[in-house]
Amino acid sequence: MHSLITHLECTACGLAVKSEKLNKLCTACGKVLFARYDLEKAKNIIDRDKVYGRRSSMWRFNELMPIKSPENIVSLDEGNTPLLRASRLESLLEASQIWIKDESANPTGSFKARGLSAAVSKAHELGIKKLTLPSAGNAAGALAAYCAKAGIEAHVFMPNDAPQANRFEAELAGAKVTLVDGLISDAGVLAQKMAKELELFDVSTLKEPYRVEGKKTMGYEIASSLGWRVPEVIIYPTGGGTGIVGMWKAFDEMQSLGWIGSDRPKMVVVQSEGCAPIVRAYEQGKKFAEPWENASTIAAGIRVPSAIGDYLILDSVRKSGGTAITVSDQEIVENMKIFASFEGLWVAPEGAATLAAYKKLLLSGFLTKDSEVVLMNTGAGSKYLDMVESFV
Ligand SMILES: Cc1ncc(COP(=O)(O)O)c(C=O)c1O
Repeated sequence: MHSLITHLECTACGLAVKSEKLNKLCTACGKVLFARYDLEKAKNIIDRDKVYGRRSSMWRFNELMPIKSPENIVSLDEGNTPLLRASRLESLLEASQIWIKDESANPTGSFKARGLSAAVSKAHELGIKKLTLPSAGNAAGALAAYCAKAGIEAHVFMPNDAPQANRFEAELAGAKVTLVDGLISDAGVLAQKMAKELELFDVSTLKEPYRVEGKKTMGYEIASSLGWRVPEVIIYPTGGGTGIVGMWKAFDEMQSLGWIGSDRPKMVVVQSEGCAPIVRAYEQGKKFAEPWENASTIAAGIRVPSAIGDYLILDSVRKSGGTAITVSDQEIVENMKIFASFEGLWVAPEGAATLAAYKKLLLSGFLTKDSEVVLMNTGAGSKYLDMVESFV
């Protein structure tokens, strides 16, 4: 039941580094580090069908997670979220196979819980006492909650128009909240500066190697919910892209473990028309994405002008035969209403974007009504009262 982590490896230059010390980006090339595991050993000792007899959280995949001593795990029972069959959406759209991975069921109401349970656990294991991050909203709430549980100090930096609920939940959990007049990228600059001044460890997504380990468990869960196979398509609302990068990593790991074959889902990025750096880079055939100027959208979590893991997101989209598409804020609102009135789910605007993208991809012919598609609802709509008020 112990972690089989062996080392960290740079996703760009391949440099190998020790995992049992503070790590951020690759010291040789500045790119993203991934945790690597002894998958040969894991293959012999983990029975994929018995994993589900274990605890009901993402930590049932403990050997494939980075925490050496289980007592260091900081958990609120994140993960193990439902893969719901969207039968009423299927009738509405005359489609045959739509699933919703409902991440709103996580503690703190979003999939950020997975990443921050992993990152806070590792920080706790390494004896770190003060953490910081910039956030569009949900990550701030999740960091605050996991730090509260671990007895670690949390300092969060958010745009001043981030959803109010995220500010309140972070403050209530005892985090030091700083509101920034600008975007998440501006909050990131301030977080970095304060990290130096106050000796905070920065857990910005993909700049430290463990949040992605939490998010990858979405990939493990989707495959297991489908009887250890992957769907044809996954549509993911992309900001920093940690979820898409994590799931792609999970599929490779599962193949090495012999849990799935070589099939991969087509990975589809959806972004907002007002902030679409990854879609633009995809369309222009670029390996990296230029920062998006004057980013604006009601879906706070995907208002991310630049992503440190841009090349990893674009890689997974291209290698999988997926695509990248934008939707408008109006489409996001319309589809929030449809999710609620047809499936009973009050989804986050980011989640609603996946349904808008699905419909557009049906119209463009990229998908057919028989394509088996998973829509990632990454969070709870109830966190966005300030925006919902304007259209209900
Ligand atoms: C609800 C929601 N969906 C999607 C995202 C984007 O996530 P990622 O940074 O993994 O692309 C966020 C990020 O804040 C979010 O809060």
